[in-house]
Amino acid sequence: MKLIFATNNAHKLAEVQAVLGDGYTLATPRDCGVEEEIPETQPTLEGNALQKARYLHERTGLDCFADDTGLEVAALGGAPGVRSARYATEGHDFAANNRLLLRNLEGREDRRARFRTVIALIRGGEEHLFEGIVEGRIVDRETGCEGFGYDPLFVPDGYDRTFAEMTPDQKNAVSHRGRAVRRLVDFLRTNER
Ligand code: IMP
Repeated sequence: MKLIFATNNAHKLAEVQAVLGDGYTLATPRDCGVEEEIPETQPTLEGNALQKARYLHERTGLDCFADDTGLEVAALGGAPGVRSARYATEGHDFAANNRLLLRNLEGREDRRARFRTVIALIRGGEEHLFEGIVEGRIVDRETGCEGFGYDPLFVPDGYDRTFAEMTPDQKNAVSHRGRAVRRLVDFLRTNER
């Protein structure tokens, strides 16, 4: 089964393809002739995921899904949250975002944080939402070089390694995106058409 995934982030694409397995082939917006950056201007993860999925569906008429993820840090009142990609600058500058996060948590004892992913699926014109959450904490310096984004700073509960020190399979087994994608897969399998 072919699905369009509204991302051009190669890391995300690989993570999601690994969880979906061989039964599903993912296409990117670029594969379908959508070259421009898809707008994500909503104030919530749910809103952004739906906005991206609707944008792609309107242009291609095909079944598609989009995800939006935020890192929610307790001591920062849930920030950066929906602004996770543009925390330090308007660009997607992972290193600058990580530096700002560490600076804002300097001297803070409460390091609790969670990643939350929302996936919006449009299938046969109908919209469905799936959520995945992983709880954990922010360490005080970047460790590891796998993954992307805030991975070198995030240790999931029950582990003593950051996501950036895990293999893709280990991260997928516990991660926000892995959990949300497994819910998407369950839905697709139990509602086959
Ligand atoms: P997006 O809008 O879903 O691409 O995610 C927003 C931002 O959250 C990204 O630019 C990354 O900084 C961060 N992010 C999303 N997913 C992950 C992840 O799995 N690990 C680390 N950071 C992530």
